[in-house]
Order: sequence, then C-alpha cells, then structure tokens
Amino acid sequence: MVKTLCEAAVAVLTAAAPLDKVRLTQEYAAAWREGRIADFGTLPPPERPTRPERPELKLPRDMPKRGRGGSAQNRVALLHALAHIELNAIDLAWDIVCRFVGEGMPKGFTDDWVQVADDEAKHFLMLEERLNQLGASYGDLPAHDGLWQAATTTAHDLAARLAVVPMVLEARGLDVTPDTVRRLREFGDEESAGLLQIIHDEEITHVAAGRRWFGHLCAKRGEDPVEAWQGLVKQYFRGSLKKPFNVDSRQAADFGPEFYEPIAE
Ligand SMILES: [Fe+2]
Ligand SMILES: [Fe+2]
Repeated sequence: MVKTLCEAAVAVLTAAAPLDKVRLTQEYAAAWREGRIADFGTLPPPERPTRPERPELKLPRDMPKRGRGGSAQNRVALLHALAHIELNAIDLAWDIVCRFVGEGMPKGFTDDWVQVADDEAKHFLMLEERLNQLGASYGDLPAHDGLWQAATTTAHDLAARLAVVPMVLEARGLDVTPDTVRRLREFGDEESAGLLQIIHDEEITHVAAGRRWFGHLCAKRGEDPVEAWQGLVKQYFRGSLKKPFNVDSRQAADFGPEFYEPIAE
C-alpha cells in the first residue's frame, strides 16, 4: 500500500492497464476520504502517463472519420472515443493532485481532484461495460493521441492548467453531450444515452471545481478572474472556443458567459 497521496497519484499514472488505473483510483480515493492516506508527500508525476499497448494512438488527422448514424458500429466508435477521454481524465486529475502540491492550496482543492479522479474512473468503467455489452472493448479501435498535450503545455502553472483543462476542455464536453444523448435516444439506445446523461451531470461538478479553484488562485494573486482566464486561454489553448455553448450547464458550474462569450469563435 502506498503511504502518501503523491505516491498514489504516481502509481495510477504509471499503471498501464486501464482497469488497473480504475481499481487503484477507487482504492486510493477511498483511502484519502477515510484518512488512511493523509499525507501529501512529494513525488513528481511522470511527464506522460503510462498507456496500454492497445489502443493504437494516432494523430488526430490520421483518425478514421466517425459516422454519426445509429449503427452498432458507429455507437461502438463513439463510446470507444469517450472511454479514451475518460481514461485520460483519470490521469489528468491525478496529475493535478501531485504536480501542484507546492502551490499551498487548501485541502479542499485536493479533495475535489481526488473526487474527480474517482468520478472519471467510474465513467471509464461504465463506458467499458457498455462497450462489452455491444461486443467490443476499450483498445479495439485506434484512439486520439493529442489528449495529453494540454497537460504538457500547462504543467508549469496551475492557473493555466485550470483555465484550459476543466474550464475549456471539460466545459466543451458539457456543450456537446446533450446532442449526443439526444441522438442515442433517437437510435433507440436508451442504455448508452442514460450513461452519457450521468456523465454529463457529474462533469458539471468538475467544471465547477475548476472554476472555483481558478477563482481562488486569482484572488490570491490579485487578478481579475475573467481577464486572467481569457489571457491564459489565448496563450495556452490552441483551438477556438466553439459555439453554441451549453449556457445552462456552464452556469450550473458557476461559469458565466462573461468569461467565454467575448472570446468565442
Ligand atoms: Fe468524466
Ligand atoms: Fe471530468
């Protein structure tokens, strides 16, 4: 058993098998909640998390185009892509937990990101079980190799990390998921639609955690959160902020349009 939270984080980040990442995350998150792991420790996270041999990782431009119809094959491709995002999200959450220990953030910050890691592990597992029901599993298809880039470009600054990962990327998830849920319902796949709805609702709390701790950091640094966020997004996020936004779900995370509307595409 690991002794500190940073050791726990690094153990997840360096585990290759997805189900090991899930199992360790669940074990360590419970240990943190129950006080069986109580010290942070200091152990730098790896530059990149360890990945399984499969799926094959491809550059975005080399990824096969995903069909939008309701065939089982298209739904498997969709669920596979989402499972890949969730697996990456497990590592992202643990990376935040141990990379920024020197920032002197309150314990609530760590509690939140350990909870995020635990949620992402659950999301991955839900999608993998659904893939199994459809006769597939994670690793069967190629997956996108760009997801860790945001972690690399923001590794030196917690404010930049929060600005880009929860407040751009996870918020983007809130924008697109309702439409995916609707399409899955139209195709008669209630089961997958229900899972994605649960994921959407829990992702609101991840965006909210990002927004809250970003605000905390700005207050500490004497910066205006809206101005600071827009500056960091321009500097560290390579894409553009795409409309339409899911203003309601974003608002539920206390992430108001004054942040993103002025710099949207
Ligand atoms: Fe998730
Ligand atoms: Fe998330």
